[in-house]
Amino acid sequence: MAENLFVPNTLDRKKIYDEIAPQIAALVAGETDLTANLANVTAALKEAFGFFWVGFYVVKENQLVLNAFQGTIACTRIDFDKGVCGHCYTTEKIVIVPDVEAFPGHIVCSSASKSEIVLPVFDKNGAIAMVLDVDSDCSDDFSETDAKGLRKVVEIIERLI
Ligand code: SME
Repeated sequence: MAENLFVPNTLDRKKIYDEIAPQIAALVAGETDLTANLANVTAALKEAFGFFWVGFYVVKENQLVLNAFQGTIACTRIDFDKGVCGHCYTTEKIVIVPDVEAFPGHIVCSSASKSEIVLPVFDKNGAIAMVLDVDSDCSDDFSETDAKGLRKVVEIIERLI
């Protein structure tokens, strides 16, 4: 596996997603352990963009349970109908929240988190197996560019589950 992640020196997030997606695909290709791969995916996203928090909540025991992540400590279990992550789970859609304080039911893991994007990750049967949650300490930090770029990363994970 590659020793280093190459991140282009630009603020153009699309360019960064385009550059890191194949590297992430290569990174997970040689490893069969899912947790190891999820951990490296969160590390790659954190390193490439400097996001405040990046992590997975997996569907387990009728809840979303904290799994691999990079960032500050976080709540470990989220009910399916709670928070932004739960909203993503129940709607099965990508959720972008420009201002977390304006989102009813948002679960505060850190007061530093100001905006958030959550993507569903589907298994081969089309059921949600986990969600990818990315938090920023800047308001309104996520756009369609992030939705598309992170979706590409999620597709790499979906091929593993
Ligand atoms: N804010 C999320 C909870 C997870 S943390 O942000 C890491 C939510 O409302 O679902």
